[in-house]
Amino acid sequence: MHTAIIMDGNGRWAERRGLPRTAGHRAGAKTVRKIVEAATRGDVVEVLTLYAFASNNWSRPTLEVSSLMRLLKRYLVSETARCLDNGVRLSVIGRRDRLSRDLVNTIEHTERITANGSSLHLRLAIDYSAQAAIAGAAARMRGECSPEEFERHLAAAMHAEVGPPVDLLIRTGGEQRLSDFMLWECAYAELVFTDTFWPDFDEPAFEAALREFARRDRRFGGLSSARQSG
Ligand code: FPP
Repeated sequence: MHTAIIMDGNGRWAERRGLPRTAGHRAGAKTVRKIVEAATRGDVVEVLTLYAFASNNWSRPTLEVSSLMRLLKRYLVSETARCLDNGVRLSVIGRRDRLSRDLVNTIEHTERITANGSSLHLRLAIDYSAQAAIAGAAARMRGECSPEEFERHLAAAMHAEVGPPVDLLIRTGGEQRLSDFMLWECAYAELVFTDTFWPDFDEPAFEAALREFARRDRRFGGLSSARQSG
């Protein structure tokens, strides 16, 4: 099962406490650790993709961007050993040419040494834009192609594997939109929205989203199993 999360609400969480937005991102990074641990412990989620930095986030104030980049690097450095211990494969999707050399080196190191992890595949989307990836894939195409062939072009455009289709997309922070996140892969994703700000999202909330997913009747354009047999 592939679960994706749009981790929204760090800024508002901080503002409500009279703190700078960067404090919200630091609290958000702690939530990332908790949710990854919960996903690793449970045996439901096989792939977890987290939207850590959208390409549009470059338009935020320089201080906020540099603080997010520092947090991402610190996360990769501190979590690599834990990933190895827990059998987690960690990889990154998105553009790398606008990231610092230092961050790219850290990403490559983490990807290399966790490559054999098989209990959970954790993917961080950094400088990620689904529209840019799809446009990049279209630019590589020569004439018509099947969805399977298109995915090969998409992988080349993303400089990463496309990954399995998203089964469940969770968005915290009260907004109900996709914000340019895995538009192709979410074709049949079940969407779960919660008002909880990301720093307050916890294991019970994550499990509630997984239970909500389990209740959904997924039809993929066909009929529900009850109607099919009737
Ligand atoms: C959205 O909140 C969140 C982000 C733009 C960044 C997500 C980053 C983290 C959770 C922390 C670092 C990540 C990792 C993987 C260690 P927002 O700032 O848009 O919140 P707002 O809508 O309340 O302003």
